[in-house]
Amino acid sequence: MFDRKRSPVDWIDIVWFLFIVGLALLPPINEIHKQLILLAFAVLQFFESRFVDQLPARGPVYSVALKIALATLLLDHTGEVAINSGYYPIYYLPIVTAAIYFGPLGTLFWTAVASLAYCSYLIPAHWEYEITAESLEYLALRILFFFLAAVLVNRFVVENRRQVARYQALSETLEETNRQLQRAEAEARRSERLVALGQMSAGLAHEIRNPLNVIKGSAEMLAEKLKTSEPLAGELAGYISSEVNRLNALVVRFLDFARPSHLDLQPQKIDEIVERALESVQAHLPNSKVRVERHYAPGLPTIAADAQLCERIFINLIQNAFQAMESSDQQRENVLRLSVEPESSNGCKGVGVTVADSGPGVPAELREQIFNPFVTSKQEGVGLGLALVAKFVDDHRGSIRLDNNLGPGASFHVFLPAAASPQTGSHGMQVFQ
Ligand SMILES: Nc1ncnc2c1ncn2[C@@H]1O[C@H](COP(=O)(O)OP(=O)(O)OP(=O)(O)O)[C@@H](O)[C@H]1O
Ligand SMILES: [Mg+2]
Repeated sequence: MFDRKRSPVDWIDIVWFLFIVGLALLPPINEIHKQLILLAFAVLQFFESRFVDQLPARGPVYSVALKIALATLLLDHTGEVAINSGYYPIYYLPIVTAAIYFGPLGTLFWTAVASLAYCSYLIPAHWEYEITAESLEYLALRILFFFLAAVLVNRFVVENRRQVARYQALSETLEETNRQLQRAEAEARRSERLVALGQMSAGLAHEIRNPLNVIKGSAEMLAEKLKTSEPLAGELAGYISSEVNRLNALVVRFLDFARPSHLDLQPQKIDEIVERALESVQAHLPNSKVRVERHYAPGLPTIAADAQLCERIFINLIQNAFQAMESSDQQRENVLRLSVEPESSNGCKGVGVTVADSGPGVPAELREQIFNPFVTSKQEGVGLGLALVAKFVDDHRGSIRLDNNLGPGASFHVFLPAAASPQTGSHGMQVFQ
């Protein structure tokens, strides 16, 4: 149905009103019924759009039916013989209204109803006069013009509606494109910042590494030399050495983040990689009380992955889950759920791995930036774990997301594309090197 929005008083309503006044001033002037009917037309026209807004489904039907009834009454009060009334073009009002509100069939239907209402005056005329063939032709002509006007207006309106729909669709597409562009720009700005940060970290880490090695070597020599003569100094040298080891590990992680990865892609079984990652975390945290639930789907496709990097993806995720569950003093049992199943993403087949825990979940204020480097809520944390995970997943052309969990805990979902068979090479990936 045609949707019209109007201001409270439209100038076209005033023009309408003037036309009705014009009709009222034409003979027969003293016919009170005629004037009342014209007044009813004016009121109906004035309130029509508001009425249709209130009753979008039935409003147009009532409006057109009422106009046909008023037009028919008007004819009865404006001529000795109603069918001969010079006011017959008043039927154009309901006809045009129908053409505006309805489709082609509805318009034809209401034009036929208006024509029938007009022709109904043939019956009383027939009682008093003889109806000649000429007058019937005359009547047919008028009715044909009713239909002509209806079809013309309706065609124009339908075309107009189509144009409006086209422009609406176009503007929605433009809006969506605009949003995508803004997202892409934000992403590009973020990438630029990350690249700059990465380059700086790489340079810095490289420069720190050499003196660290010298400090470590010297501390080890000192510890060795002073082990017997000065046990305290030996112990302190031992501390230096172990702290240097810690710093070195950190520097290596910085470099991992900053340097482009060199992938050794081989067909791998993802469930085996996840298992190795779990064992590695459990070996480092032997006292943790976490029940592990495994949901590994059978017949998983192999993926093209660098086994070491891929393992680190899951080590980081599982380690975060263990740390989160251990840190909270919740009463319920700590459960880590690992699920692996075949999945498709953007038409690309692969596997989806979910690492979900029963911990406190990711703080709301961190959710947006969780994959950015140096975002951490832990005292001892660096905030590089998930940034590295995101980078390694990216290197594998996969995707990672933090699920919106309704229940407690955090759930990370990783998608990794399946290894393309060497014959088809469907994703254009260099798979078996
Ligand atoms: N499973 C999880 N449950 C709750 N919070 C999590 C979870 N995983 C990550 N987080 C939140 O995301 C932050 C960033 O994690 P990320 O692994 O990048 O760094 P980190 O663990 O703090 O430090 P590190 O560099 O040692 O890994 C964490 O500090 C923590 O607040
Ligand atoms: Mg971490």
